Amino acid sequence: MKKTIALLFVCISLNSFAQDKIVLSSPKFITGDNSQYKELSFNDASWASIKPTIVWEEQGYPDYDGYAWYRFHFILPSSLKTHSYWKDTLRIAAGKVDDVDETFLNGVKIGQTGTLPTDPGGYNGKYDVLREYHISTNDKSLMWDKDNVLAIRVYDGGGGGGMFGGTPFINMMDIIDGITINTVTNNGGGKITVTNQLRQAVPGTLKIQVRDGEKDKVINSSEQKIILSPIQSITKNISFPQGKRIEVIASFTEKNTGKTKSVRNVNAYILTPLPSLTPKINGAKVAGVRPSSPFLYKIAATGQKPLQYAATGLPAGLQLNAATGVISGSLSAEGNYVIHLAVSNSLGKDERALTIKVGSLLALTPPMGWNSWNCWGLSVNAEKVKSSAQALIDKGLIDHGWAYMNIDDGWDQPARAADGTIVPNTKFPDMKGLGDWLHARGLKFGIYSSPGTTTCGGYTASYQHEMQDATSYASWGIDYLKYDWCSYGDVYKKEGDTSLAAYMKPYQVMQKALNAQPRDIHFSLCQYGMKDVWKWGAQVDGNTWRTTGDITDTWESLSSIGFSQNVQYPYAQPGHWNDPDMLIVGQVGWGDQLHNTRLTPDEQYTHISLWCMLSSPLLIGCDISNMDDFTVNLLSNDEVIALDQDVLGKQAQQKIKNSNYQVWVKELEDGSKAVGIFNLSDDYQTVSVNWQDIGLGNTEKVRDLWRQKDLGAFNNTFKTKVTPHGVILIKVMQ
Ligand code: GLA
Repeated sequence: MKKTIALLFVCISLNSFAQDKIVLSSPKFITGDNSQYKELSFNDASWASIKPTIVWEEQGYPDYDGYAWYRFHFILPSSLKTHSYWKDTLRIAAGKVDDVDETFLNGVKIGQTGTLPTDPGGYNGKYDVLREYHISTNDKSLMWDKDNVLAIRVYDGGGGGGMFGGTPFINMMDIIDGITINTVTNNGGGKITVTNQLRQAVPGTLKIQVRDGEKDKVINSSEQKIILSPIQSITKNISFPQGKRIEVIASFTEKNTGKTKSVRNVNAYILTPLPSLTPKINGAKVAGVRPSSPFLYKIAATGQKPLQYAATGLPAGLQLNAATGVISGSLSAEGNYVIHLAVSNSLGKDERALTIKVGSLLALTPPMGWNSWNCWGLSVNAEKVKSSAQALIDKGLIDHGWAYMNIDDGWDQPARAADGTIVPNTKFPDMKGLGDWLHARGLKFGIYSSPGTTTCGGYTASYQHEMQDATSYASWGIDYLKYDWCSYGDVYKKEGDTSLAAYMKPYQVMQKALNAQPRDIHFSLCQYGMKDVWKWGAQVDGNTWRTTGDITDTWESLSSIGFSQNVQYPYAQPGHWNDPDMLIVGQVGWGDQLHNTRLTPDEQYTHISLWCMLSSPLLIGCDISNMDDFTVNLLSNDEVIALDQDVLGKQAQQKIKNSNYQVWVKELEDGSKAVGIFNLSDDYQTVSVNWQDIGLGNTEKVRDLWRQKDLGAFNNTFKTKVTPHGVILIKVMQ
């Protein structure tokens, strides 16, 4: 009898959970376009299956641009309404769509984001916007307790295409939607703020749990009945032990419906010790320059300021500024020049060799620096570039090798000058002045364009003005060009040639224009991986090439991009690097409104570890002037950065992959190997890595790179606990 009651209880609670939300995870899919596809009665049995959380390029439709349809079948239970306090509005959340969607429910259009090529004003993609459409529960198109079809017509104008950015779902708008919970934690404490955005009082229960996840132990827990007055916030302070990774789970259960909103936060726990006050030289040990091109290299070094810089063996043509550590000048003869660097202060001295290779190759190690896109989007201006550059210096990032300051989209006028010259817009009143300002500080200067008529953001681009533009860039002192396919898709379609040569062509045209300049310009290809760009990027002198669509600051985006880079492993080499897109740590926003990255601290350690293991370009995508201590620490670990900047230039390879974790191994110049043990699951994992399974010897000495700590010698296996979505990054040597 007792058993029956218990079973009944479980059934009811599972059922009620299921009735709050319909998860739409398995749509049918077809490329092409037909207005019948929106109809409830349409038979899609022969269509393919697809995941609605990852763009279609990564699911068997490489290089596909144009129209495609997703159809989700579901039963709409009327219990959704009965379980809801408010009964008037249904929410349809469809994640993000790259680039434009038209969304239909049972044949009736319920929403659209972005505009289609056939719409007035033409195509305008909105790939980074969450689609959330609302529909009245009285709407006649809804089929309560029957089969329904949500049909999403997608138009992809180029690059990544289709649904991504979260599993779609349907639920009722309810009181709980008016409640937000904001958790801010730091090292030792934090604040939880529960806000009622409604014009009615909301009673409920607030539960706060503080946990040590590693030990699976609750440190503190509290539960309190509260009444949130209309438009009111309640803030609770919490404290916990310092220097530890702490999980805080705050949940509010609304009394009328029993619906709960929960937020889980991990404090920004710092792993890396601060740099020592005695001098230490960091950054790349090798630099490439073409004969007679200007050479600029800032010696990256930490230690108590002021530091004195010295260089012996400098060939004629190069000078060192002993106060700033900037080496400049030019060398006309090809060859390898080994220079001996020394950096000292009152506490000591560090010395190291730097090899300058004068020849045809640039980017002998992946570029490190900043790009405006992930923070400022099209609202970038010269002041924002300068304030991030100044902060890169003031916060000491420059002392770890961060050097490029790259302007992305949004810097030029709609109209060219009468002679066809590109003209910066009023946000950049003096491009050459900005270049000089950066160079004087040992920083490098990057810019952005497209081989089409316009950039992705609709600004003027280089089509049929390539030589003129490259010449302008050189005159401003540009060191780096990101060249983004964007509207070149129209040219390509008009020409009707789908061969590999047609994809290479626009990059070859700009390659010639850049090579004709009297300075070196790093050539960054951005065409999202079409036609396996990694196989031919080096042939068009691409120094880096984007391998995927655009990244955003979520675990889904980070992990789907980062962990799918194994196929490109053979193509990374000094001078030529795979580019899985820019960093998404710190304050990002793609426009004027910035927010803290939505990645947890564990996910951020994974991000930087994986990008360094992959020998990726490291381009900070946040407002550095607002960078917090955690992010500065994350981007200042020289032992982690050294993996990225390793002279051998070999990308890591995926050696173990299962549903919970992956192990990647990177060969290093000194004969040692870096091993990244990545936990892709939502729970702590204890992982035992057998050295032989990943091609290592019987006994290996292990150093923890994030903590900069030797862990000792391990025979046969290395066993470690890894945080959810986190990493253990080690260097092993015999
Ligand atoms: C594309 C690129 C992004 C960024 C924007 C600018 O989406 O992939 O990195 O440059 O264009 O509009």
